[in-house]
Amino acid sequence: MHDNASGSWWQSAAIYELYVQSFADDGGEDGVPDGVGDLAGVQSRLPYLAKLGIDAIWFTPWYPSPLSDAGYDVADYRDIAPRFGTLAEADTLIAAAHRHGIRTIIDLVPNHCSNQHPWFQAALAAPPGSPERERFWFRPGRGPGGGQPPNNWQSRFGGPAWTRVRDGEWYLHIFAPEQPDFNWGNPEVRAEFEDILRFWFDRGVDGIRIDTAAMLTKDSSLPDLDAALAAPHPYVDRDDVHEIYRSWRAIADSYSADQYGDRVLIGEIWLADTALLARYTRPDELHTVFNFPYLTCPWDAARLRAVIDDTLAQSAPPTWVLSNHDVDRHVSRYGRADTSFDMDNRDHSQPVDLELGTRRARAAALLTMALPGAVYIYQGEELGLWEVDDIPDEKRQDPIWRRTHGADPGRDGARVPLPWSGTEPPFGFSPPHASAPPWLPQPKEWRELTVEAEDRDPASMLELYRAGLRIRREQLTSGQELSWLPAPAGVLDFDRGGMRCIANLSFAPVPLPPGLSVLLTSQPLQAGALPPASTAWLR
Ligand code: NOJ
Repeated sequence: MHDNASGSWWQSAAIYELYVQSFADDGGEDGVPDGVGDLAGVQSRLPYLAKLGIDAIWFTPWYPSPLSDAGYDVADYRDIAPRFGTLAEADTLIAAAHRHGIRTIIDLVPNHCSNQHPWFQAALAAPPGSPERERFWFRPGRGPGGGQPPNNWQSRFGGPAWTRVRDGEWYLHIFAPEQPDFNWGNPEVRAEFEDILRFWFDRGVDGIRIDTAAMLTKDSSLPDLDAALAAPHPYVDRDDVHEIYRSWRAIADSYSADQYGDRVLIGEIWLADTALLARYTRPDELHTVFNFPYLTCPWDAARLRAVIDDTLAQSAPPTWVLSNHDVDRHVSRYGRADTSFDMDNRDHSQPVDLELGTRRARAAALLTMALPGAVYIYQGEELGLWEVDDIPDEKRQDPIWRRTHGADPGRDGARVPLPWSGTEPPFGFSPPHASAPPWLPQPKEWRELTVEAEDRDPASMLELYRAGLRIRREQLTSGQELSWLPAPAGVLDFDRGGMRCIANLSFAPVPLPPGLSVLLTSQPLQAGALPPASTAWLR
């Protein structure tokens, strides 16, 4: 594995987000391919991932789940979904990945479980006030007959955050009704998750991505949201959430001396205030958090530079993220007139210039890979996939789309199964004898974006990612700092350990400095100059 002298692996890793159901379908429980990706599919593509040059895979939730939110509704935290495979296959995969020099990060969902989880089923079967209900947030309703929800909180997926059960009590779900929130004030919940951490660390897992990490603890008086505005938020970023991560960090650290080395805790935290965000990465808490300000930043040199500077000013090791399974793919974002992204206001009505978006995505890839810190790659971005915005309504799966009655297009467009080979769907995602087509339909234009089509094409996105990751690994180490160099408006120019990165976000070509040799460019140079919407690495 690729440790380097100046830091632990996770500080400079290239981490590949693998969205299991859309990666590759080789057969689940019964070994029959069914249009849904699985662990056998990952196992058979490990050589592809090793060749891409990544250091770790982050697997999105792979547990048994009724799939009300694509697996973020977990029914059993200590097993593998039958449609993905078995626990024994996961063990084999973790070991095989290690042999390829690839570490494994799993996705833990501690804010809520599935309504099919045995604890929630037991809570439903038990009476109000019982210890079983204490693991969740059950409350009587308000108004005549308790017919109104206990407070005015809204679900992040639309509609009220409360659902009523048969005996008249209501339970809290910040996300879908099928995702009841745990009560983190309950010691049983804490003990259970500490045990789950150990269960996976004992299996050789190298890191944990923590879902919805800032929302675990709640104000137990459950006040109305507007009434509480001046006070701390009743469920986002509360002080007591940090205690949980201190105990988790102690567990992670207790493993760092074994054969696999450092275990890493990574927080999924959407907080705009970087000072608040920084509190999660104090030395005894999480190792890193995702850099969402970088992801949501528009394609604008000054704004990007401000985010980069702000990130580097924090004491935590930086991370860089362009896309994930919750956001519009960046080829599409960068091809719109408004290149910013707002999770709560997705706009798929803007026209997309895919050629421009792809060009900018190539430039963004080299800019991102040159920055100090860890870089995340969301599966398919290495192929230049775009957001699919014409999925037929009856095929859509995202609860956001359903619960907003289509007002929010949701996230399915970023989750379409990968194209591997061939000229027609399923593009090698499933073998020809699969029992069903891919669970979300693939655009026919993706025939030009298959792994097979891009492999060995020097102009492809895939070869750009392979070259970028290789040079990054060979020439950049985590200790090297970035120093900005003077540049014209719209241009980012910096040096890292003798490697120069120039990103041209302006509309005019930029002459390259003399005396340096070109390592890699995202577009061919034009008369020795760096054309608009492109990045060059020089030495
Ligand atoms: C964040 C995950 O990334 C997203 O996909 C999920 O819907 C929510 N958390 C709820 O678990």
